[in-house]
Amino acid sequence: NRSWAEPYRIKMVEPVKMISREEREEAIKEAGYNTFLLRSDEVYIDLLTDSGTSAMSDRQWAGMMMGDEAYAGSRNFYNLEEAIQEYYGYDYVVPTHQGRAAEHIISQLLIKEGDYVPGNMYFTTTKLHQELAGGTFTDIIIDEAHDPENEHPFKANVNLEKLENLIKEKGADRIPYVSIATSVNMAGGQPISMKNLKALRALTNKYDIPIIHDMTRVAENAYFIKQREEGYEDVPIKEIVHKICSLTDGATMSAKKDALVNIGGFLALNDKKLYEQAQNMVVVYEGLHTYGGMAGRDMEALAIGITESVDEDHIRARVGQVQYLGERLIEMGIPVVRPIGSHGVFLNAKKILPHLSQDELPAQALAAALYVDSGVRSMERGVVSAGRNQETGEHNYPALELVRLTIPRRAYTQAHMDVVAESVEAVYKNRENVSGLAFDYEPEYLRFFQSRFKKV
Ligand code: F0G
Repeated sequence: NRSWAEPYRIKMVEPVKMISREEREEAIKEAGYNTFLLRSDEVYIDLLTDSGTSAMSDRQWAGMMMGDEAYAGSRNFYNLEEAIQEYYGYDYVVPTHQGRAAEHIISQLLIKEGDYVPGNMYFTTTKLHQELAGGTFTDIIIDEAHDPENEHPFKANVNLEKLENLIKEKGADRIPYVSIATSVNMAGGQPISMKNLKALRALTNKYDIPIIHDMTRVAENAYFIKQREEGYEDVPIKEIVHKICSLTDGATMSAKKDALVNIGGFLALNDKKLYEQAQNMVVVYEGLHTYGGMAGRDMEALAIGITESVDEDHIRARVGQVQYLGERLIEMGIPVVRPIGSHGVFLNAKKILPHLSQDELPAQALAAALYVDSGVRSMERGVVSAGRNQETGEHNYPALELVRLTIPRRAYTQAHMDVVAESVEAVYKNRENVSGLAFDYEPEYLRFFQSRFKKV
């Protein structure tokens, strides 16, 4: 096998600088040991998230120059609508400023107090909007997804028996929709198979329950289908993406990931009546239904980003870079979520720091230690992210206690990945010295963003 390289060359650079270890120690203390509270200038390689952090192409920047900033009826909206119809196949589009705004609208429109919303593992903002609308999220992902070492190729699959039991127990009328994410973030960037999605479609049809698709990383999921599922080896990514969407009734999109823009999102629907209701709601919370919180130029960049996101060379390089980092860490003997996901490598903090109980917030502590070692910024995805039980007020204790090294698209090189791997190895060798953390300040919603911690 010959090597292959990134399918682009660099024509503009943004300098990054590493501050000293002493300065990093001071910075993380100042930030309450929460990597979200660091200043970007204190970071060397920023793997906090792949959200809004990707590099746009020359075409996208050219598109920015063609922004039509009319309040109503911007031509860029129609370009965006056309791209969504062509590439994703949904009929109606409501633009929003990012993904959670679309989640807000769909949750408020469909969920009633006391409803249950089954999903293939939770996502933080998605679940919160379901709860704020009066619903209870119910996890119906296969059990393998909660085991970081299980090598199941489609860990985002739905356990159909779990779903059918829930429908029988609560009644189909208490389930407004099934919430299905492609490339499930909290499971480690794991895909759902076409076969499972088809079976889910058949089951939900039987009970007349819609499927709402969190399509934030749908192209990455499609790439894994192409790699791993029989019959899709030669099917273009564009067609696989279209097929996935066709098996669902509507979608929320954080365009800041797959679609290669720094800001943007949308709600896409096939039901005209629901679309009209969503259009009516978007003017209250986001902006007119032809911009929804985005500038015209942002909509143009997004329309172009959608076409680039399904390019075969792009998606192979994108997921390939994540695989490269993951394989290096596996070679070094670091416990990571297997198989390596599509948008990041997830360190198994429970296993790396067995001397810390989950109450000592091992993933939070590991992310802070990694930052101090090298200026690499990662993110906690464990007990802090999981929040508290709505009724009891106790911490939720997820099986997965992870640190996410999230790779922005087209932004970093293979050498950056090597530096990251070497830093993880250094922290791993010194792991006995990583001490636990305790909450110092805890906000009510999405606490991982703004909590502060102290050493215990
Ligand atoms: N759904 C998924 C699967 C996501 O990963 C995100 C955001 C959202 C919805 C919400 O979209 O941020 O545009 O409002 N994930 C980011 C992350 C924040 O770092 O994983 P948003």
